[in-house]
Amino acid sequence: MRLLCLSLFALALTGADQPIPYSHKTHLKMGLKCNECHTMPGKGELATYPAESKCMTCHVAVKKESPHIQLLAEYARKKAPVPWVQVYKLPEFVWFSHKIHAVADCARCHGPVAEREVITKEKPITMVACMACHDEHKASNECNLCHNPA
Ligand code: HEC
Ligand code: HEC
Ligand code: HEC
Ligand code: HEC
Ligand code: HEC
Repeated sequence: MRLLCLSLFALALTGADQPIPYSHKTHLKMGLKCNECHTMPGKGELATYPAESKCMTCHVAVKKESPHIQLLAEYARKKAPVPWVQVYKLPEFVWFSHKIHAVADCARCHGPVAEREVITKEKPITMVACMACHDEHKASNECNLCHNPA
């Protein structure tokens, strides 16, 4: 149990141990756009991860001999989501919507993703970081905005 906790802690710190070694750098070089994969449905609370069928549009043919792609194809066949490890995660008591923040560049909160092989938590999503940007943009910093939205 202790070992499990320690390794989960390590995962949370590095974000490196994804079930499939997907690289943003490799894929964004091909001209794919963020919102093709991170669609922000509904109220846009979540950016969301792409459907495996999206990946398979290319990978039915591309690199299909790779064991990583075979694993991906297996998830797609079972219609089961790849269990990606979430790197940026707020506690439940904080309200946040991607759609409302879509005016901001993804890089402001997540760094230069298109240049990254592996996503790590390189930018803070702390209360201080949220508030600093709200001050900059003259957006509200009332406690209720983020903790008890109407
Ligand atoms: C203002 C800061 C901010 C901006 C701008 C932002 N994000 Fe996020 N992102 C966050 C925070 C905070 C979380 C954690 C959310 C949570 O745990 O509820 C997150 C989580 C995520 C996640 C994982 C969880 C989920 O929502 O599905 C993805 C994927 C993501 N962001 C992609 C993007 C993309 C793509 C863009 C640009 C279109 C973007 N983000 C812009 C702050 C931001
Ligand atoms: C537009 C086509 C396209 C889409 C969509 C796409 N990929 Fe790829 N992917 C490629 C190409 C091309 C390569 C090979 C790059 C190279 O090594 O030459 C690749 C390489 C990979 C590799 C490395 C395979 C290996 O063993 O070398 C992984 C893993 C991967 N993709 C996962 C994904 C996942 C997961 C998704 C969906 C989120 C996805 N890809 C969506 C085209 C695509
Ligand atoms: C081909 C599909 C695809 C495209 C295009 C794509 N992503 Fe992703 N993204 C993924 C997948 C799959 C993951 C989960 C694996 C990982 O973390 O690398 C992910 C994870 C992320 C995360 C980490 C979320 C978390 O907390 O777990 C962020 C941030 C992110 N993407 C931002 C972006 C941005 C910004 C762009 C455009 C510059 C972009 N993505 C384009 C497929 C994509
Ligand atoms: C890039 C600058 C920036 C960052 C970083 C940022 N925000 Fe914001 N946020 C804004 C702006 C600007 C608005 C006002 C948007 C509007 O009214 O159209 C806003 C509005 C909001 C709202 C109000 C939404 C609504 O329903 O009106 C909430 C809640 C919020 N932000 C939460 C957060 C949290 C939580 C974080 C940190 C994880 C964060 N923000 C980080 C710029 C930012
Ligand atoms: C712009 C969004 C935003 C506003 C406004 C905001 N908070 Fe927060 N708050 C956060 C985020 C994000 C976290 C989680 C920080 C983390 O996990 O590092 C947080 C965490 C907290 C925590 C838990 C601290 C901890 O150490 O776990 C308390 C208590 C708190 N906020 C109180 C307040 C009070 C009081 C106000 C008004 C003066 C306020 N917050 C205004 C975003 C906000």
